[in-house]
Amino acid sequence: MENFFWPLQENIVTEEDKGELINFINTTNRFTQFEKVKQFEEVYSKWQGCKYSVYVNSGSSANLILINALKEKYNWKDGDEIIVPAITWITNISPVIQCGLKPVFVDVNFKDFSFDYENLGKEINEKTRAIFITHLIGFPADVKKIKEIIGNRDIKIMEDCCESHGATIEGIKIGNHGVASTFSFYWGHHMTTVEGGMLCTDDEELYHLFLLKRSHGLARELPKVLHESYRKKYPEIDFEFLFLTDGYNFRNTEFNAVLGLAQIKKLDNYIQIRNDNYKKFLDICKRYKEELLLTDNPGISSFSLPFILKNSYRKKEFQKKLTEEGIQTRPIISGNLLKQPFLEKYQKDLPNAEYLHHNAFYIGNNQFVKGERLGKLEKVMEDFFGDKMHKSSRIYISGHNGLLGTALKNLLQKEGYENLLTRTHEELDLRNQNKVEEFFQKEKPEFVFLTAAKVGGIQANITYPAEFIYDNIQIQNNVINAAWKYGVKKLLFLGSACIYPTESPQPIKEEYLMTGKFEPTNEPYAIAKTAGIGMCQAYNRQYGTKFIVAIPANLFGPNDNFDKQNSHLVSALIRKFHEAKMKGEEEVILWGSGRPKREILFSEDLAEACVFLMNNYNSSEVINVGNGEDYPVREIAEVVKEIVGFEGRIVFDSTKPDGMMQRKFDITRMENLGWGPKTSLKEGIRRTYDWLQNNLERLS
Ligand SMILES: Cc1ncc(COP(=O)(O)O)c(C=O)c1O
Repeated sequence: MENFFWPLQENIVTEEDKGELINFINTTNRFTQFEKVKQFEEVYSKWQGCKYSVYVNSGSSANLILINALKEKYNWKDGDEIIVPAITWITNISPVIQCGLKPVFVDVNFKDFSFDYENLGKEINEKTRAIFITHLIGFPADVKKIKEIIGNRDIKIMEDCCESHGATIEGIKIGNHGVASTFSFYWGHHMTTVEGGMLCTDDEELYHLFLLKRSHGLARELPKVLHESYRKKYPEIDFEFLFLTDGYNFRNTEFNAVLGLAQIKKLDNYIQIRNDNYKKFLDICKRYKEELLLTDNPGISSFSLPFILKNSYRKKEFQKKLTEEGIQTRPIISGNLLKQPFLEKYQKDLPNAEYLHHNAFYIGNNQFVKGERLGKLEKVMEDFFGDKMHKSSRIYISGHNGLLGTALKNLLQKEGYENLLTRTHEELDLRNQNKVEEFFQKEKPEFVFLTAAKVGGIQANITYPAEFIYDNIQIQNNVINAAWKYGVKKLLFLGSACIYPTESPQPIKEEYLMTGKFEPTNEPYAIAKTAGIGMCQAYNRQYGTKFIVAIPANLFGPNDNFDKQNSHLVSALIRKFHEAKMKGEEEVILWGSGRPKREILFSEDLAEACVFLMNNYNSSEVINVGNGEDYPVREIAEVVKEIVGFEGRIVFDSTKPDGMMQRKFDITRMENLGWGPKTSLKEGIRRTYDWLQNNLERLS
């Protein structure tokens, strides 16, 4: 698939069609509009289910004749108003202006791309003469609703079906729901005559006007039965050169009609293939409902495969990706027409058209789009939108030597993830933006666990506040920005329990973030982490990234910090009891009453939660990861004592402060996702102590 190219349009003139054309050329000397044109018109009327068809040289010419003829028949005055959609082809608007009428633009909708029906009625007034519907990219507009809006007012419906041949409304083909309709046979459309268009109507008078206007206004273009009466009416004018109205020369040739006759035989089959493709396309898109707006319609005759992305930045990125992969794209027709210099004076605020201008585009659909191309699209979309890690995904664990980082690395390795990216502090200083960018550019991680941070106990936070704020902000700024810049599919940022306000009610819910003051001792750290959360959310909003944030309860586990000054509750207890045991002491004195309750989470449980969230959580809202249970310090101490094997007493020094009496997370969000921790307190402490015994140098 090296030279894979999926163009917007391609030649649908077959060898068989060419054969018919060659045969025709070899057997005739009449190439200007004649019997083949007539024949094609008859066949088309039959296919379309209308009384009259008039073949012209383009859909645009058909539109111009349509407006001009209706203006004449219904005696519309210059300046009368025609309602048009803000997204359509430009030659639906130009003829209105060229005929001295005023186009009144109405916003569009995201379901069938026709008018925003809510607002359509507001634009109707006593000067409104017609509503010019476009059945856009194969979607039938809701003509029933439009008729309801018109009510009993004398407002004509014209239908542009140039991109939607064979689409239906309640089983009736579009183009049969108003006074007249137009079709295009330009080469990218459902069927082609290379260039060409058709006017269709059941109204005889309009039919006659179409015939006249197609060909200079000449009376001889009318059905033969009418000729005699005109000869009699204008005896002084040579009937062959009798002009009854203003006209154009929009005739087409016999060649094109021959192609039309060949192609129309295949039209129903072509439409079927297009619709089958659309169905498969929708099935793929449904997997990414969170990012895409989808639209379906039982009456569709698919013209193209449209994407509407909920985030405009992602739209640009996705469009870029498709182009790189050889899939050609274009705006929905040409986006919001009111942005065009030509239509500057009609400027108005049309939010849906504007949204589609920025958030939507389409790729081609026709009978050549089948398995291989749809398979490629599926893969490209999976690549771009798929946010679940695969065993071969490139996964960067920043901070892989930390408490959580180690657990994550072990877990991912155990589960068979093959492409884990890690860098030690010496190999990559995350505070250095250039180095971080170089790393992302070179390694192209797809998933990032941002666990790296400068952490420490109370003492370190008090001593090095500048480093805590600077290092952490630098690390997260560099990693988060590079993740966006280099197209990381998903990033998980770790917050910290200590960023919740000190005065938070218990249990602590996610929404308490930033509702009160930080704990003063670790305020710089908390400010940095909070900024990281804000940054993830802002990037998601602006760029459509998937940067999620987990806030873990206090952790413990293998590879924890057992430093005398800096260790947290469990590791501090383990160290104390271990040292007391080694020294054969009789008692261990602990600060406080032992009654305060603490929630502690085993690092390997958090690692599991992180992997779970990476694969299952997509919200910008932060999410607590806790144990769901809190234990009195006394109980935790008893468990540690037992596991370490210290045989002396525990003495609680109640003259020392207890700190907060409770600190516990509300983990409803996580529970609702179906995740809960597995490791019991005892098991977690046993595994941590086992690890320590193999790494006793950590106590020095
Ligand atoms: C909605 C619509 N109307 C009119 C036209 C004009 O048709 P043609 O290209 O045959 O002039 C097009 C062309 O693609 C179209 O998409």
